[in-house]
Amino acid sequence: MTATVEENTEAKPGAVPTFEVTLRIERYNPEVDDAPHFEDYRVTVHGTDRVLDALHQIKWDQDGSLSFRRSCAHGVCGSDAMRINGKNRLACKTLVKDVNPGKPITVEPIKGLPVEKDLIVDMEPFFQAYRDVMPFLVTTGNEPTRERLQSQEDRERFDDTTKCILCAACTTSCPVFWNDGQYFGPQAIVGAHRFIFDSRDDGAAQRLEILNDKEGVWRCRTTFNCTDACPRGIQVTKAIQEVKRALLTNKF
Ligand code: SF4
Ligand code: FES
Repeated sequence: MTATVEENTEAKPGAVPTFEVTLRIERYNPEVDDAPHFEDYRVTVHGTDRVLDALHQIKWDQDGSLSFRRSCAHGVCGSDAMRINGKNRLACKTLVKDVNPGKPITVEPIKGLPVEKDLIVDMEPFFQAYRDVMPFLVTTGNEPTRERLQSQEDRERFDDTTKCILCAACTTSCPVFWNDGQYFGPQAIVGAHRFIFDSRDDGAAQRLEILNDKEGVWRCRTTFNCTDACPRGIQVTKAIQEVKRALLTNKF
């Protein structure tokens, strides 16, 4: 099947042009398949359509068995991270026109987590690593009688890592995680960073001890894949470096 972009030139003035593309999707149904395989689907999309829209079109009009996760469709819930043309992205934030639609667009599940069906992976190891770093405020002493105040400067120390939507694009783009599923992974360190540097929190020492583990921050090889993959633009590698520094200097 050819995969050229065939723009519809007969559209009315002002209409968003349409074109045809091929999505080459990794399919795997553990009930019938021994191994994953690729299948091609031809769809007509608008210039404003995202990869998620193309997947919906395939599921709704061509093959209802195609399985993938999505919820908000607006880059907020983090459920539709997948490998699109070999790069981790959110399908709902990726325009088809931006991923070289002149060739088949490959769509695969994120790497390093067990595939359950098609583009759906088992996220449990990822969420377990997140839970392990205690992603909640830890306080000691008596309950305050008013809200816990914080200066703008103190709030800014962890502002970047509050933006995480737990999509796993960072962790599953990390070669260390691919080779060693025990590694906490970038997201867990981002999740810990968000509280370690929060002036209202008293659990930093405990979290740092957890991340000082042989599967903790020291496994990071600073490849920057995580930072490149993050759809929220979080400086993931920088956050990991800050946690490493906090461990070395005992300052946080
Ligand atoms: S740090 Fe970025 S890539 Fe990683 S889980 Fe959070 S939002 Fe996704
Ligand atoms: S569907 Fe929610 S982030 Fe894409």
